[in-house]
Amino acid sequence: MTKPIKNAESFGPVVYPDEAAEPILSPAVRAALLNWLEEIWAEDELKEVGIEPRRKALFYGPPGTGKTTLAHHLCARLGLPMLIVQSDRIISKYVGQSERNIGELFRAVEAGGPYCLFIDELDTLAGKRIDASSSAGHAHNAQVNVMLQYMERYNGLLIGATNRTDALDTAIWRRFQLQVEIDVPGQAEREHIIERYLAPYLVDPDSVVALARDMNGATPALIREFCEGLKRQIVLGPRLRLPMDWTDVLGRLTASIAPHPELVQPVLWKDAARSRAAKTFNWPLTLSGAKEETR
Ligand SMILES: Nc1ncnc2c1ncn2[C@@H]1O[C@H](COP(=O)(O)OP(=O)(O)OP(=O)(O)O)[C@@H](O)[C@H]1O
Ligand SMILES: [Mg+2]
Repeated sequence: MTKPIKNAESFGPVVYPDEAAEPILSPAVRAALLNWLEEIWAEDELKEVGIEPRRKALFYGPPGTGKTTLAHHLCARLGLPMLIVQSDRIISKYVGQSERNIGELFRAVEAGGPYCLFIDELDTLAGKRIDASSSAGHAHNAQVNVMLQYMERYNGLLIGATNRTDALDTAIWRRFQLQVEIDVPGQAEREHIIERYLAPYLVDPDSVVALARDMNGATPALIREFCEGLKRQIVLGPRLRLPMDWTDVLGRLTASIAPHPELVQPVLWKDAARSRAAKTFNWPLTLSGAKEETR
């Protein structure tokens, strides 16, 4: 192996196990990933019977569903720092440079590791191969071919993420031994996410259910922003002498934190008049461990 010129950190930030948070997942996804962890932990036993654990997984799904958070959490469970590769540090407009950068990346990771290699926005690095008659097409295909070769040879843990499966090269897709869809959460997961991000405030169960229903279609990232926005309102609203009735607070929140216009618009945003949480939310919230109201 030729000695790398760059170190792994020059391809993106490294995040460590102690900074990881556990994402809230659907039971099916959680079970699939737990099985995968078990498989990696059982490496020695598997080797005794002539097989290797799978080490390459692709997470795909809409933005803000927790792909990066999940990859970080899994690496943390394995005790590994995770290198988040940024595609702009690889892609170059100079002929042949992107391929050289890909080679440098894998060499740097192998020399400096162990790391878990996390390649975000994989579709930008390994988009579908195209007509090679133009020079741009030729360069792109060369880059994807090099990526395929290095992925094939790489023996460490590799997680790819994309929210554009339509754009991803099909052979790259197949190089992953697990392909896991990380979709928007269901009702039970939304309830759990709301409770997590509203803590230390307590919300009565009916209000949590209503709010989660009216957020059907929302990503965890949006739910988190909403809940943190609500806490900000509770703390800052009175200081700013803002009206603090539930309708006022909710109106300010939904006006300032919203889903991307091209994504599903949950009832809370699309049609507040039909939202049950807009009418029956138990407000104000109480702090856990404290009896007094927080308004
Ligand atoms: N399943 C989840 N449970 C709890 N929190 C979550 C979950 N998914 C995402 N979050 C929170 O939402 C935010 C965005 O998550 P993250 O960046 O992991 O999403 P992503 O799928 O990687 O998005 P992108 O496709 O834009 O890269 C993070 O702050 C994270 O804490
Ligand atoms: Mg991400």
